[in-house]
Amino acid sequence: MSQRSINDQIAEIVFNDPVLFCEAILKWKPFGYQEKLLRDKSKRIIACAGRQVGKSTTIAAKAIHFALTNPKTTTLIVSATLRQSMLMFDKILDFIESSPIRRSVTYRSRTRLRFSNGSWIIALPAGRYGSTLRGHTAHLTILDEASFIYEEVISNAVLPQISTTDGYVWMISTPWSKDHVFYRAFTSPEWSKYHLPSSSNPLIKREFLDEQKRLIGERRYKLEYEAEFVEDEDSFFPMTLIQSCLFDYEPRLSRGEYYSGFDFGGREDYNAIVTVELKDDKIIVQYCKAWLQDDYTSATLQCYDHYKVYGIKRVCVEEIGAGISIVEHMKELGADIIPIKSNDIQESLLNLRVLMERKEIIISHDFNELIASLNCIEYERSRTGSYIFKHRSGTHDDLGRALALACFAVKASKGKVLALE
Ligand SMILES: Nc1ncnc2c1ncn2[C@@H]1O[C@H](COP(=O)(O)OP(=O)(O)OP(=O)(O)O)[C@@H](O)[C@H]1O
Ligand SMILES: [Mg+2]
Repeated sequence: MSQRSINDQIAEIVFNDPVLFCEAILKWKPFGYQEKLLRDKSKRIIACAGRQVGKSTTIAAKAIHFALTNPKTTTLIVSATLRQSMLMFDKILDFIESSPIRRSVTYRSRTRLRFSNGSWIIALPAGRYGSTLRGHTAHLTILDEASFIYEEVISNAVLPQISTTDGYVWMISTPWSKDHVFYRAFTSPEWSKYHLPSSSNPLIKREFLDEQKRLIGERRYKLEYEAEFVEDEDSFFPMTLIQSCLFDYEPRLSRGEYYSGFDFGGREDYNAIVTVELKDDKIIVQYCKAWLQDDYTSATLQCYDHYKVYGIKRVCVEEIGAGISIVEHMKELGADIIPIKSNDIQESLLNLRVLMERKEIIISHDFNELIASLNCIEYERSRTGSYIFKHRSGTHDDLGRALALACFAVKASKGKVLALE
């Protein structure tokens, strides 16, 4: 047998097994649970996975193998935002650049890649309406962080892409709302399913996971690290409501009409500032920051600096407990302050909820902490019908409250234009 035919046979064996392909060509050794996923040939694969378990790396390697072993095919990587799709695309480029297959790349840009066998890999954002996806036909569509892609975009723009090619769909995500196609697919018998808690990755230490549990609270830990769907019927801002307000934009502060909310944390809690921009009758969240600092003079000065530097129009602060001196201090410094007392705090949260229901507020996908903070705010109705707000132990509602205060500052200044009028 000639050396050439031996080489061809070796290549065939390696290319026929995605795990061998990863080890021999990509120089990457997958863990056991990744091997199973790599070898899965199902047309519908879903992985509900925890943070940092290695889902993007596995799917990136699997996508390269698919493109190379299926000539003239198109693989689309779709996430809620282009930045997120590009993270997976960058993993693909990293693998390729450090392996011999870089020689089979005939075209590459920041979001597109073509191999000499005619196969393409393309990264795209799902966006709000899926307009960027229309017109693409795919043989494989990968939905990375699928739970955060609008359901309508998946059904109206993503699934039609594979209808004529009888193509493949791989959905991977950390869990989020049960009221979403990701959850329904995960509980449907038609999909090949993987449940991968973060602890599956041997590189993640138990101590790290225990620390995270203490830091972010049991419920969010269950979602993000144990990859378990959790109920949120007690949440005042349920996941589906929050999701309907998430958009893809880069938050920034420059020269807009800005309003801030400042929630002072004290000894135990975080201080939080959220700044929103009022633009075309919509409220756009442009900034949020939470930090620990129990000295309220310094916290107040930080808040005042933010007010001054970004030319904030008005700041809303709770005038309760330590808040009384903060309001005084901010006034002395010359800030335009809206102090609010207990009853108005309830109203500020109700106002925020109405704004969200009316889609008058826009939140960036990037504000993970704010999103989690909103979702942990729970409520009960008292016998008289009023709302009693609380938050789950171990969670931080500070950013959510600061957002409610910032929106209250808008309402107090522009009341008639916006909700609750
Ligand atoms: N088989 C492996 N061997 C060594 N390191 C690995 C392996 N699989 C993944 N990793 C590493 O684990 C880390 C997490 O991987 P990756 O980014 O793929 O996870 P993820 O689940 O997509 O994370 P995120 O939740 O942040 O999206 C990375 O540093 C990656 O290089
Ligand atoms: Mg990832």
